[in-house]
Amino acid sequence: MIISIVNQKGGVGKTTLAVNLAGALNTLKKSVLLLDTDPQGSMVQWQAVNPDPPFQVRHQVRPLTSRQAQAVKKEFDAVVIDSPPALENTTVKNLAVSDLTIVPISPSPLDIWSANETVALIQRMMKKNRKLSARILVYRKIPGTRIGREAKDALAEYPFTVFKTEVTQKIAAVEAMISGQTIFEYAPGSKSAKEFKAVMNEIL
Ligand SMILES: Nc1ncnc2c1ncn2[C@@H]1O[C@H](COP(=O)(O)OP(=O)(O)OP(=O)(O)O)[C@@H](O)[C@H]1O
Ligand SMILES: [Mg+2]
Repeated sequence: MIISIVNQKGGVGKTTLAVNLAGALNTLKKSVLLLDTDPQGSMVQWQAVNPDPPFQVRHQVRPLTSRQAQAVKKEFDAVVIDSPPALENTTVKNLAVSDLTIVPISPSPLDIWSANETVALIQRMMKKNRKLSARILVYRKIPGTRIGREAKDALAEYPFTVFKTEVTQKIAAVEAMISGQTIFEYAPGSKSAKEFKAVMNEIL
């Protein structure tokens, strides 16, 4: 299975989600490949702090071709692809080879509306890649708050399933990244770890 994380907007949590989803899959003893297709190379920096991650990480400057995608799907149980904050060629190619794409969105109406180009691109790509499905993940929700009615209404305008799990804003998620680890190594008992695991369980 190839899972790509996409959102045109910068700083929504794509890289953090990609690392921790790969981490969650790795806890099930699945063979996991994490692909960083962002030219910023955030994953390279993450890996530089701790050069021995529990799964394979590749900085893939050129997105996978369909032949390469077939090959990695044979080699690994799960491939997680982090995308750059843009809807250019790389994101298009990532969607072309994915089975599932996840759009992390912060639960504010403005952020939800700003995902509309991302959603439109995914819909166009679904016509070309028939196996592609898409889900929205409410991400960086403030703990203890409810999602407002406006945000719920805005989310409902998109044709994709929304994960039941909501990922909250937690300092442990930031600290794990800074220490070059996944949340499952840094704070396995944390609320944050439970959330990323719950996201994975919904996928599986
Ligand atoms: N669950 C979380 N709780 C709190 N902070 C988070 C969480 N997930 C991500 N962050 C923080 O949000 C910021 C953006 O995260 P991240 O770099 O993963 O986003 P991104 O979408 O990959 O950004 P870019 O578009 O620049 O690649 C970072 O400072 C990160 O530490
Ligand atoms: Mg990123």
